[in-house]
Amino acid sequence: MNIISKTSKDKLIATINYLNENTRFLQNKNFIQHGTTSIYDHVISVALKSIEIAEKYNLNVDYASLIRGALLHDYFLYDWHKPHKYKFIHGFTHPRCAYHNAKSELDLNEIEKDIIIKHMFPLTIIPPKYLEGWIVTAADKIVTVRESVRSKVKKPIHLGADI
Ligand SMILES: [Fe+2]
Ligand SMILES: [Fe+2]
Repeated sequence: MNIISKTSKDKLIATINYLNENTRFLQNKNFIQHGTTSIYDHVISVALKSIEIAEKYNLNVDYASLIRGALLHDYFLYDWHKPHKYKFIHGFTHPRCAYHNAKSELDLNEIEKDIIIKHMFPLTIIPPKYLEGWIVTAADKIVTVRESVRSKVKKPIHLGADI
């Protein structure tokens, strides 16, 4: 359970709705990230965790960029579990793929770009440049561990709105 302010929750829901209506973001529902969790649910969990970290420690961040970067960090739009030539390097290559997909549909600022491209640090060697990138990188790892060990029963994410 993530405890976040109503302001951030409203901002998150508005951003998800915008992406649903204006990009291929909904396609993330078709792909599994870890266990039984879709990419769609995964990136929302990462956005929630990122907001929670920023608010808990009263960090001075750009919430709009933090949320957009978190929601788009795994926007690679393919099933990475299916056998293919580059499956073994998915961990290294998918941030750039996500960035190119997002960039083709949206104007990304430097913080959002940094979040998406650097979120696999330290697997990918270059660390995030901005605090927002460090937060999403940490949130992604926390959420990934939770999703990987959680039971196979799918637990939907409730934001209190239909998204
Ligand atoms: Fe990722
Ligand atoms: Fe992720």
